[in-house]
Amino acid sequence: MLERALSIRRPPHATEVAGTAEGDGGDGTGDESKIRKHVSVAMRVTNYLTRTGYIWPILVIGLIIVIISSVIISSRDLVCISASSSDHISRLRFFGFDGLESDFGSLGVPWCRSKHGKDVEWTSKDLLKGLEEFVPIYETRPIKNNMYGMGFDHSFGLWFIARWLQPDLMIESGAFKGHSTWVLRQAMPDTPIVSLSPRHPEKYLKKGPAYVDGNCTYFAGKDFMDFGSMDWGKVMRKHGIKDRSRVLVFFDDHQNELKRLKEALKAGFKHLVFEDNYDTGTGDHYSFRQICDQFYIRGGGHSCYKESDEARIRHRRKKFWEKAVDTDELCGPGEAWWGVRGHMRDNFNHSNKVITYGQHFQNSRFVESVLDVYWELPPVAGPSLTHQTRYDPARTSIPIVEDGRYGLFRRLGLSQLDLSVFNGYTQMVYLQVSKNDT
Ligand SMILES: C[S@@+](CC[C@H](N)C(=O)[O-])C[C@H]1O[C@@H](n2cnc3c(N)ncnc32)[C@H](O)[C@@H]1O
Repeated sequence: MLERALSIRRPPHATEVAGTAEGDGGDGTGDESKIRKHVSVAMRVTNYLTRTGYIWPILVIGLIIVIISSVIISSRDLVCISASSSDHISRLRFFGFDGLESDFGSLGVPWCRSKHGKDVEWTSKDLLKGLEEFVPIYETRPIKNNMYGMGFDHSFGLWFIARWLQPDLMIESGAFKGHSTWVLRQAMPDTPIVSLSPRHPEKYLKKGPAYVDGNCTYFAGKDFMDFGSMDWGKVMRKHGIKDRSRVLVFFDDHQNELKRLKEALKAGFKHLVFEDNYDTGTGDHYSFRQICDQFYIRGGGHSCYKESDEARIRHRRKKFWEKAVDTDELCGPGEAWWGVRGHMRDNFNHSNKVITYGQHFQNSRFVESVLDVYWELPPVAGPSLTHQTRYDPARTSIPIVEDGRYGLFRRLGLSQLDLSVFNGYTQMVYLQVSKNDT
């Protein structure tokens, strides 16, 4: 009977789930019967102690124990602050449980300005609803351990965007074992895919799990072609695509993103997703984040003054987050904000080009001139829930499931996933672009 009552109360959608997360104390159990049981036992003990006259001595002893243990705990906190251990507990103690939420974005979240300030159509409610749907799909993935490929956050982002846009054709550059091809297929079961990758995913099948799609044209192995060298007119004709704005292009090939943007514009594509939109000072290729991390952008550009608060904060955060970077790594000679330090990284860091600060600045203006929409996927959940240690929250927007909302995290099924799948967030970005008018 109770089981039936609980299942009737369980809301069908994440949006509704979100509304009830705090209502059950955040643990998601919603089990009132347990609480009642505890109260009645406590009442019985209290009654007994009052009757026998032991109540006051026991209360005094209890108070002394509470005072002594709180002194011990706070002195342990002081030790943790000075320790360089990067474990999760010490990180929480260092930044404080209450401070976690406000910590997000505290060092700036740069973004690329679009031509007319247009935004995406979807809302955070749509993302939550999408998450609820995607978790069980993700659990059926053929490649359970996708090291060097996408983790949960970006898999969700790609699936969500593809499903929202409903493209007539999906192009992928950088397939590896085929996990992202599988994600695209889950979003759009009948839509053709074109996949470009130097090594055919079927090669990986000999060694372990991989995914090869039946409705995908592979330009891979001996047939490999780079995105920039493809005859896209021929491919579009073959697939009967007349309107290239009905095509979604997904890049996970670690190439200079400015180069890819220019190639995509030339081919007439409009909807682009970049998997690794690396933060300034990190990564192996020039990214939109880096390009747009400029002084004139809110959240962009930074103080290079060595004695600044920012320098101190960055230095401290490096101990806790793998992708956090020191001011030393970001600034040029004369304490000049330089971000990418004179290099346009390309092709997994193998073919970097020297650029001047002026060129770097002009690149951001160029990106803005062709940009209709810029949207960074937020992290799926806060680090106190996912235990991720990679991205620095201070450089990131607020997660879809915020820290402290364990009830929601659990109800969405996220607590059942292996924690390692949450360690791959690098600000995946969706761009809508069109050639500039000049
Ligand atoms: C990070 S992996 C892709 C992971 C994959 N999307 C996933 O989620 O599992 C990068 C892939 O890009 C491929 N690659 C390297 N150069 C490339 C190029 N010029 N064009 C397309 N793919 C390239 C690599 O061989 C590798 O398979």
